[in-house]
Amino acid sequence: MSRSVYLLGRLPRSSYQRTLSSTGYPALAALRRAQTRTTTTLFSTQQSTTLSDQTDKPYYITTPIFYVNAVPHIGHLHSAVLADTFKRYQELKGRKTILSTGTDEHGLKIQQAAEEAQVKEIELCDTVSQRFRDLFDAANISYTTFIRTTEPRHAVAVKELWDQLWDRGYIYKGKHEGWYSVSDEAFYPLSLVEEKNNEKTGEKYHVSTETGNLVEWTTEENYKFELSAFADKLSEWLDKDPDAIVPKSRHLEVQAWIKSGLSDLSISRPRSRLTWGLPIPGDDSHVMYVWMDALTNYLTTTGYPWKGNTSENQKDICGGGGGWPADVQVVGKDILRFHAVYWPAFLMAADLKVPKRIIAHAHWTQSKMKMSKSIGNVVDPFVAMKDFGTDTIRFYLMNDGRLADDSDYSTELVAERYRKLLVGQLGNLLNRSIAAALNPSRKVPRSPSLIDVHPDDKAVHLRLQILPKAFDTAMENYKTTQATQTIFEVLAEANVHFANNEPWKLVKDPASKDRLDTVLWYAMESVRLAALMLQPIMPTKSSEILDRLGVRGDERSWEFAQLGRGWEKDAESRSVVADEPVFPPPPTTKKH
Ligand code: MSP
Repeated sequence: MSRSVYLLGRLPRSSYQRTLSSTGYPALAALRRAQTRTTTTLFSTQQSTTLSDQTDKPYYITTPIFYVNAVPHIGHLHSAVLADTFKRYQELKGRKTILSTGTDEHGLKIQQAAEEAQVKEIELCDTVSQRFRDLFDAANISYTTFIRTTEPRHAVAVKELWDQLWDRGYIYKGKHEGWYSVSDEAFYPLSLVEEKNNEKTGEKYHVSTETGNLVEWTTEENYKFELSAFADKLSEWLDKDPDAIVPKSRHLEVQAWIKSGLSDLSISRPRSRLTWGLPIPGDDSHVMYVWMDALTNYLTTTGYPWKGNTSENQKDICGGGGGWPADVQVVGKDILRFHAVYWPAFLMAADLKVPKRIIAHAHWTQSKMKMSKSIGNVVDPFVAMKDFGTDTIRFYLMNDGRLADDSDYSTELVAERYRKLLVGQLGNLLNRSIAAALNPSRKVPRSPSLIDVHPDDKAVHLRLQILPKAFDTAMENYKTTQATQTIFEVLAEANVHFANNEPWKLVKDPASKDRLDTVLWYAMESVRLAALMLQPIMPTKSSEILDRLGVRGDERSWEFAQLGRGWEKDAESRSVVADEPVFPPPPTTKKH
């Protein structure tokens, strides 16, 4: 019996077209494509024209969804804080936003972890997924959707995407031989595998050169996605949009991967190997490859399938609060290939738009080593936040975590940032300017002339004037480190300005009242601007600071990030609140 006839008899949803593309002959699938799809362009130009006019599309930003085989660590939190910061920044600027996060619950990795823990898979998923949710709640991650891939709504979306790829002829069945890593849930070509020797037992084993994780040789029949058909389209996309992947080094890396050649991708595993996953539509003997399942989460959260997948319907969904394409997808560098090659190829194959930006961040190490359970150098984010406070950790991650290069996590450095920057610069300037000793009226002083600036105020004045633009440029380029740096450089200058003007002397001389007011005003204005801009990074502390300064809720949006644009109308009627410090001194430096 020929293979196609065999499949024809076996597949419940058999159709001539489906059988052609499931015989292991991508060429036949391609032929069918040519016959049935004369108008579809892989770039979804049709959608582009229709949807690009949508000014009301919410800003949609995603975090990766997290594996539930182990509890969260600080690196996971980093992905989430980064996305939350960009989301809150857009909100500050008045945009509607969607932030999706969640947990990745299928696959061999989870199946094996459940086996080891001797619990049912779903029990493991429930417990660890809740742990991630608890973490994100504790860390003030303002997600709008928390997706679990075991939810029924997700199964619907995955089936739809599969059907789209199938119907368009991009899936075929074929034999696959290769190295598979369960830890990475990825097949690796020979060029990315190296042999190692176990020094104790002398046994040979193989690992991925990219992740160092164990790989095993696998031979199986599975469904394949014709990734190779998308090399040109992917290259074209990246050539046309040089900012598609940030940072630039990653963009170039992805371009090089694509140029070096793309093999077709296995997108199912035989049920005999993997049971914990979504079924392949129409073939119960196979289970969906976990990455195809997981990546689809970004569509599930927008309500996919959108009533038939036409651009018209997409428009409805986006206008009604959906949001595809994602404006930004935040991922760690280790999962870039999945997001910058496989995912856009799936989307192109389904005639959907690709994400506008993919931001790949580097990793946190501990003592310069990758964090890992077995080495025991994993930083527990719950403990870190308990010790230093949520906003300190958020600040530290955004201030010291980089996109291009790994950063080494150091508790000493967290303490130092807290002491020197939050207490020493921001807190200090706030306290000095609102404390009764220098500001007995507890009022915001009247704004000095912003045109006829006192010579001693010129330097700080200028710095404050250009700060919002500098901060904005850094944030729009996803450089949180640079963004916080610009703020703290100005705060340092403002502290010096304050000290140089010796307000403690001015307060003693009634004739110097105006000068004192001006000095206090510059200090308060510096803190107001800093706190306003820090809202996306330290939402709670910033809001406390703005409360202390008497800044109203409706004066905290981006348009107020301008020198003198705060309380200019009725400053004197505003009371400041000098209470316990917003950033209490750390225990070791507390005065007894
Ligand atoms: N489940 C996949 C993602 C699927 S998205 C469709 C996955 N999960 S993960 O839990 O292993 O990792 C989630 C995120 O945490 C990734 O962005 C990863 O880069 C990030 N981090 C994991 N370890 C990290 C560090 N040590 N430092 C910074 N981020 C790290 O991959």
